[in-house]
Amino acid sequence: MFRRKKDANEKIGDEFADDMVVVVDRSINPYLVLFHESAGFRAEQVRGLRNRLVAMNPDGEPKTLVVTSAVRGEGKTVSALNLAMAFAELERQSVVLVDADLRSPSCERYLNLNSETGLTDVLLGRTPVDKVLRMAGYRNLKLLGAGSRVDNPAEVLGSSRLDQLLHRLKENFQYVIIDSPPVLPSTDAGVLSAAADGTLMVVRLEHSLKKQSRDALRTLSDMGGNVLGSFVTEVRGQDPDSDSRLSYDSLAGDEDK
Ligand SMILES: Nc1ncnc2c1ncn2[C@@H]1O[C@H](COP(=O)(O)OP(=O)(O)OP(=O)(O)O)[C@@H](O)[C@H]1O
Ligand SMILES: [Mg+2]
Repeated sequence: MFRRKKDANEKIGDEFADDMVVVVDRSINPYLVLFHESAGFRAEQVRGLRNRLVAMNPDGEPKTLVVTSAVRGEGKTVSALNLAMAFAELERQSVVLVDADLRSPSCERYLNLNSETGLTDVLLGRTPVDKVLRMAGYRNLKLLGAGSRVDNPAEVLGSSRLDQLLHRLKENFQYVIIDSPPVLPSTDAGVLSAAADGTLMVVRLEHSLKKQSRDALRTLSDMGGNVLGSFVTEVRGQDPDSDSRLSYDSLAGDEDK
């Protein structure tokens, strides 16, 4: 599962129209609504997305999911953390969050943890993954931090060890949520997306440019990524149903914003 029908006539922006999920998480900083407002409406929206993803995987196979966006600062890490926490709430679902933004890692910072050895050290063959998995501080959620800084993130992520690692993580976890760098500035997110079972695009209302989001979708698709849907974050309207910007084709419009 996590399969989408491919239609040769599909236009950019139509790609995830069927599967698109809107998450409204206008919230107080730091926006970790699963943690700070667990009973609130916004946390429920994230749980709704989680439930959609679970429903797309009826066989319950372990899955890897990349969370990305076109450019920096659109809410990828916060969305990945919220989603990972929502999965961790499910009984008998083991979940790991992987910080694969080797250029600007931030999962540890958001979780109030120190930077330690992690993903790069595993990909460089310096340590086995079991040694660097840590508790994330929420239920049973585990974290694989970004690890030691490297000068050549694209090469490190491009190594054949990435596939081996994801395979290994799927032996131990039901859901592997991967926080990634943005799509447009480097090939990292495309490489991660191609290696994963599914990809979610974060689109930030009022900030994200449609053209950039569309270009990012095209890049992911060209590189072999399987885009399942998108997070739309930072909604200003009171009632999301009354906000015309929250339509399923919000990425399919004009070239302008
Ligand atoms: N829903 C939201 N509404 C408003 N601000 C948000 C929202 N989610 C996150 N933010 C804020 O936006 C900033 C960027 O968030 P985040 O780190 O998740 O983005 P990112 O896409 O991972 O950035 P980067 O590309 O630099 O890794 C943070 O200051 C965060 O607190
Ligand atoms: Mg980030």
